[in-house]
Amino acid sequence: MPALVLLGAQWGDEGKGKATDLLGGSVDYVVRYQGGNNAGHTVVVGDQKYALHLLPSGILSPDCTPVIGNGVVVDPSVLLSELSGLNERGIDTSKLLISGNAHIITPYNVTVDKVTERFLGKRKIGTTGRGIGPTYADKINRVGIRVQDLYDESILAQKVEAALDAKNQILTKLYNRRAIVADQVVEELLGYAEQIKPYVADTVLVLNQALEDNKVVLFEGGQGTLLDIDHGTYPFVTSSNPTAGGACTGAGVGPTKISRVIGILKAYTTRVGAGPFPTELFDEDGEALRRIGGERGVTTGRDRRCGWFDAVIARYATRVNGLTDFFLTKLDVLTGWEEIPVCVAYEIDGRRVQELPYSQTDFHHAKPVYEMLPGWSEDITKAKTFADLPKNAQDYVKALEELSGAPISAIGVGPGRDETIEINSFI
Ligand code: GDP
Ligand code: IMO
Ligand code: MG
Repeated sequence: MPALVLLGAQWGDEGKGKATDLLGGSVDYVVRYQGGNNAGHTVVVGDQKYALHLLPSGILSPDCTPVIGNGVVVDPSVLLSELSGLNERGIDTSKLLISGNAHIITPYNVTVDKVTERFLGKRKIGTTGRGIGPTYADKINRVGIRVQDLYDESILAQKVEAALDAKNQILTKLYNRRAIVADQVVEELLGYAEQIKPYVADTVLVLNQALEDNKVVLFEGGQGTLLDIDHGTYPFVTSSNPTAGGACTGAGVGPTKISRVIGILKAYTTRVGAGPFPTELFDEDGEALRRIGGERGVTTGRDRRCGWFDAVIARYATRVNGLTDFFLTKLDVLTGWEEIPVCVAYEIDGRRVQELPYSQTDFHHAKPVYEMLPGWSEDITKAKTFADLPKNAQDYVKALEELSGAPISAIGVGPGRDETIEINSFI
């Protein structure tokens, strides 16, 4: 029963989409377990580039069944447009399964996300504005709408009314916005119901049966460890659990079933949105990482903040996720630097600190302690084995492995499927 979790070890955009797609050819199911269309996963297959938001990256592998688990929040209009976009490009999406227990991002959740951010002013989180936080808030407040509710019109109407009762008070009285009319929301949601129906399934049953039948199941995280609502840099986080435990609750699979947890780790660091980022660069090195790495958000088009590799964060990701392996991505982007700084610890108010501080104040004060590693200038994008890498690139990888606490089992040297050095097999 090989069940693997693949997740972001930093602040998202580590290259999870590429890694999932790479494994997609040898797994039977790829499952999203949290988040929604706040994610943006770029997959490059030959000369074709795909930007996926809600759909699992396994959708591009014909033999793989893509699954949207109960822990995901689904915007039906985004789901349908993403499906038709892929269909137009000749991708068969008919195998997709969606949990009837997944929550729906309603139009009012998107409105609330946007107005709340505007109201926060300079304290804003910098959300993707896709309604993620408010939808999870409704779920926890037990006023959420689930996929299965689309198939009982009177229940749907009652639930939408209940959800809007308090929200309309807030929208009109606090935010000075127009009230949202429940009937219009119900009508819009019902308009999606029939198109979504063929995909709706008891995904918990399907996945557990698949594991019993020795099928290979890959759980694909959105976002990343430091954006986790419990383990990330709260409050500058997303509203779900991208960390490994989230795969169990978000898909209905017990922890005893998980055999491997792979952390996707960029060879440097990026972040989108607000919040602390100790190794962030504001100089031409940061600009160069952004330019060479193409660090622009797939979902919002925002420039990503860029900085050097942070081993404190990588160690933390190993710990909170129980990582068994790392997949190091974008090593090629670092080609050309004479020396590459790597953050090995923090200095916080005069103290040297090896591990991520749990206190928000301490983390805001953390200054990176750098070690300089020698760089390389050779093109590494054609490297197929570890031995093909120049000595300094090999040493950089070995140093990161040593500092991060789990073996690096694959290395990305370019965006394409085949631009990968496989060291230990994942399956
Ligand atoms: P995700 O959200 O974790 O799936 O990552 P994104 O797709 O948002 O961002 C990663 C970007 O890096 C995408 O444009 C990928 O095509 C690209 N990418 C992934 N791996 C590599 C790599 O090893 N080298 C290079 N140069 N680009 C990569
Ligand atoms: P992938 O899966 C990077 C960030 C947003 C914001 C915070 C909260 O492509 O790695 P939200 O809309 O989730 O409430 O925003 O989380 N964020 C991401 N940053 N990659 C992502 O996804 C992200 N999804 C959300 O920028 O700071
Ligand atoms: Mg992304």
